[in-house]
Amino acid sequence: MAEELKIKKGSTKEELYLELYPQLKSLVESEEDQIANMANISSALKETFNFFWVGFYRVIGERLVLGPFQGPIACTSIAFGKGVCGNSWKEEKIIIVPDVDLFPGHIACSSLSRSEIVVPVIRDNKVIAVLDIDSDELDSFNEIDAVNLEKICLLL
Ligand code: SME
Repeated sequence: MAEELKIKKGSTKEELYLELYPQLKSLVESEEDQIANMANISSALKETFNFFWVGFYRVIGERLVLGPFQGPIACTSIAFGKGVCGNSWKEEKIIIVPDVDLFPGHIACSSLSRSEIVVPVIRDNKVIAVLDIDSDELDSFNEIDAVNLEKICLLL
């Protein structure tokens, strides 16, 4: 198991994801516990991209409950269909929000968050969690993030 991430500085976003993926794959494959794996994925994404907030909300009953994350403290509970996370769960799809102020019902855990991507974690055709990433800059996420984060979520 890699004890620390090996990421070259100055790479493009695509290259960073390419370097990160095999390291995450071997980390996750060597551990069965989902919380541990969510914790390391959050940390690796935060370290690699310096995103403002990276974390998981897990589906527990009728709500999303805050799971492993990196960044400032956040809302602990999100209802089905509420906010970007609850919508991603309901629609079972990735949601990219270029400007959080323009997303009706966006839940502002921090006033510094400006754009966001949420990726559902699907297992056995059911959403079991969502990966939520916030940026303190507008328009930080695109198709490259969507494709690569979806691939990372499939490891869980
Ligand atoms: N903005 C999210 C809430 C979670 S925080 O960003 C960490 C939402 O609208 O669902």
